[in-house]
Amino acid sequence: MSGMEDKITSLLAEGKVYPPPEQGRDQAWVKSMDEYKEAYAHSMNDPEGYWAQRAEELVTWDKKWDRVLECDLSIPEVKWFVGGKLNLSVNCLDRHLINDRRNKAAIIWQGEPEDDVRVYTYQMLHDEVCRFANVLKKKGVKRGDRVAIYLPMVPEMAIALLACTRLGAVHSVVFAGFSAAALQSRIEDCHAKVLITADGVLRGGKAIPLKASADEALLSCPSVECCVVVRRAAIDVEMKEGRDCWWHREMSAKDISSFCEPESMDAEDMLFILYTSGSTGKPKGVVHTTGGYLTYALHTAKWVFDLKDNDIHWCTADLGWITGHSYILYGPLGLGATTLMFEGVPSYPSPDRFWKIVEKFKVSIFYTAPTAIRALMREGVEHTRKWDLSSLRLLGSVGEPINPEAWMWYYLHIGKEKLPIVDTWWQTETGGIMIAPLPYVTPLKPGAATLPLPGVDAAIFTEEGKEASPNEGGHLVIRKPWPGMLRGVFGSPERYKKAYFDRYPNIYDPEDGARRDEDGYFWMMGRLDDVINVSGHRLGTAEIESALVAHEAVAEAAAVGMPHPVKGQAVFAFVTLMSWAEESDELLAELRQHVRKEIGPIATPDVILWAPSLPKTRSGKIMRRILRKIAASDFADFGDTSTLADPSVVDELVDTRKKLG
Ligand code: WTA
Repeated sequence: MSGMEDKITSLLAEGKVYPPPEQGRDQAWVKSMDEYKEAYAHSMNDPEGYWAQRAEELVTWDKKWDRVLECDLSIPEVKWFVGGKLNLSVNCLDRHLINDRRNKAAIIWQGEPEDDVRVYTYQMLHDEVCRFANVLKKKGVKRGDRVAIYLPMVPEMAIALLACTRLGAVHSVVFAGFSAAALQSRIEDCHAKVLITADGVLRGGKAIPLKASADEALLSCPSVECCVVVRRAAIDVEMKEGRDCWWHREMSAKDISSFCEPESMDAEDMLFILYTSGSTGKPKGVVHTTGGYLTYALHTAKWVFDLKDNDIHWCTADLGWITGHSYILYGPLGLGATTLMFEGVPSYPSPDRFWKIVEKFKVSIFYTAPTAIRALMREGVEHTRKWDLSSLRLLGSVGEPINPEAWMWYYLHIGKEKLPIVDTWWQTETGGIMIAPLPYVTPLKPGAATLPLPGVDAAIFTEEGKEASPNEGGHLVIRKPWPGMLRGVFGSPERYKKAYFDRYPNIYDPEDGARRDEDGYFWMMGRLDDVINVSGHRLGTAEIESALVAHEAVAEAAAVGMPHPVKGQAVFAFVTLMSWAEESDELLAELRQHVRKEIGPIATPDVILWAPSLPKTRSGKIMRRILRKIAASDFADFGDTSTLADPSVVDELVDTRKKLG
């Protein structure tokens, strides 16, 4: 064992609590635990008063609301700031032009090649956003229309999102790592009118085609009238006459002006849709609306990251996920900070890329995922020592529970034992951070997301719906509405109710397991539904299974999560073949390729196990609990198997699993 590992192990064994740093506290937005407690009590005793105050402070409204909240969770229906009017791009851009932020960097973009750097001041970004909004207008995009965005992490992506908000069009971003089939189903679900994509993606030193996938998707997307293509990777693409056009050509057209009147939107007008996986069938289009989402993004960015005017805020997520929406784009720009956008990956061209960027741009706030930390940890601490990290003042983590070893490594080698780590629990559905420390206030325990933010009425419930005792595991629930909460599942009020409000009446159910310790700290334990969290990305087992079953050789499939040292969880699939099909390495490779094509590379099973049959109850339900144990090579105790139709199936699978090693 190395000295570093020794140190981590011994520090963890102490069960130590890490006090928040004193340095910086004087300037922090929240300076003491008492302030937090007071705000929390205010938000619980008078939620409407609390949120009205926050919305007033943080957001520029065209017209103030008539009522703060209209809510009936039994329907469910939630409306915040009813009657209020605002425009999101005005909040992120225009309002910073009239004070001294006009010439300040809004976005610093670091492309994958080291020399590819672009900086947009607030004025420049405003002008580009207006120009692109005018391009969209010319293409017929109006308030309420859906615009699909399938782009790599280039500045055009931020511009496109903001341009949609300028017009009141609804953006629906699809992560560029998703396949043509995944893009197609998401476009079809929301009937997008326009698609914005790029010729290709630069990744790990290679140019990977993207427009080709878009073309494939568009073969069966009749709603899309126009496809705008950003030139990024110098890849030849086919441009369909009458449908496709180049971003750069459209933007430089003579009739495109750099001013565009912002649409004044109702607080409850739809702002964006973002698809995410749940336990059932196809991904859900999570709907967020304008006033509440913005208030919540700004509130959380300010409190959790202590975001100030002079910060360089770097969130390493992709804009294709909610983390990117809230903490690369809307949160930081709404507060007038400088946000850093990075196109590349942590390991290319070498595992010190993150730290090099921190030094290069003097990053002060750094927000990443446990999977990235674990991957970098394996590469060795020497990479962190090559660069000056002294500009950092705050570290963050998101996406999955951070294991204490990764927390300690982050704390010791990046934070140099001085910086707070905010472990932030939240979801696509919550719009912004829900449970997290306040950086200069909350004492930290490695691995705990600590305490709920003001306005977040979090608790742990038993199956029966009673509050669990301290340290008793149960269902995390949120009992009061908050402004950033989802307003629906696009096109499906039934799914909205069923997925989130069914388990406990009138209470939001995130489907996460957790416990609360004697100090009231929350310790997250992972998903309780059939969602696998691979490198912080949510994948529904149902999606993977239906992709596998779509292959002609597959009769039946079951996918479960398997513990993985870097990814957190990996996909483990049990596959039963058609009687005519033969098990072979070629077929195995073909099936993995098939899942990549149906969903995307992140969903590719790490392991496929041939299963002559699957363990089912007499009523035909697959016993996933057993499959999860087999995948993890944990054969000790399968619990109650008396309801299994044929218990010998389990022995057979155990034998095959043991052979795999
Ligand atoms: C998990 C990402 C523990 C959780 C913002 C949640 C976490 C799901 C944490 C949402 C954390 C996210 N600690 N678990 N700090 N952050 N999760 O929608 O299971 O991509 O339900 O949103 O990730 O993933 P999503």
